[in-house]
Amino acid sequence: MIKIRKHLPKDVLFRVKWLSNLNVTKWIGNELGQKTTLKKETAWFANYQKDKNKIFFTICDNSKPIGFIGLSNISKTNKNADLFIAIGDDDYRGKGVGKIAMKWIIKYGFEKQKLHKINLGVIKDNIPAVKLYQSLGFIIEGEMKDEVFFKGKFYNFLFMAIFNKNKINP
Ligand SMILES: CC(C)(COP(=O)(O)OP(=O)(O)OC[C@H]1O[C@@H](n2cnc3c(N)ncnc32)[C@H](O)[C@@H]1OP(=O)(O)O)[C@@H](O)C(=O)NCCC(=O)NCCS
Repeated sequence: MIKIRKHLPKDVLFRVKWLSNLNVTKWIGNELGQKTTLKKETAWFANYQKDKNKIFFTICDNSKPIGFIGLSNISKTNKNADLFIAIGDDDYRGKGVGKIAMKWIIKYGFEKQKLHKINLGVIKDNIPAVKLYQSLGFIIEGEMKDEVFFKGKFYNFLFMAIFNKNKINP
């Protein structure tokens, strides 16, 4: 059963594993295909704990951590945030976990954080991700050409967003 819980210091080791996995890093990060380190992820977690505008969660299969999802740059003023997701464990992609986690965080963002809009960025060639986002109601707001370079090829980058249409935030 898929469960979503707070991101905890013990998840640092999983972050190192997931963010060093080429099946994940070929799609995320400022520079694709890079491996992270324990030092970098420990520093990330320490900064995360101080950052009031960022909230991450660990996606678990019962108690087994398999990925993370979160919101950063949460703006109370603009009522928006940026969404990140990675199913880090290779055994769990393409099995509906991403969809469950995305639905959960969208509800969390709109209902608990009272956001009006949730943004994300995705490499256009990341078909599972783009399809998933579109199936949930994200629309493409913009496209940057040749924004990312990886293994001899440039990739276009899409900005996508979903709006909370059910409610006008006061
Ligand atoms: C992108 C990612 C979060 C999707 O999660 P997932 O658990 O693999 O996706 P799901 O199994 O929940 O699939 C949900 C939808 O995505 C689409 N999808 C998933 N895998 C697909 C594939 N291989 N080809 C086409 N569409 C696919 C389908 O529309 C599917 O909906 P459906 O089941 O109604 O047909 C996950 O694959 C991942 O973490 N990838 C590596 C890191 C990454 O790309 N992060 C996002 C960066 S923006």
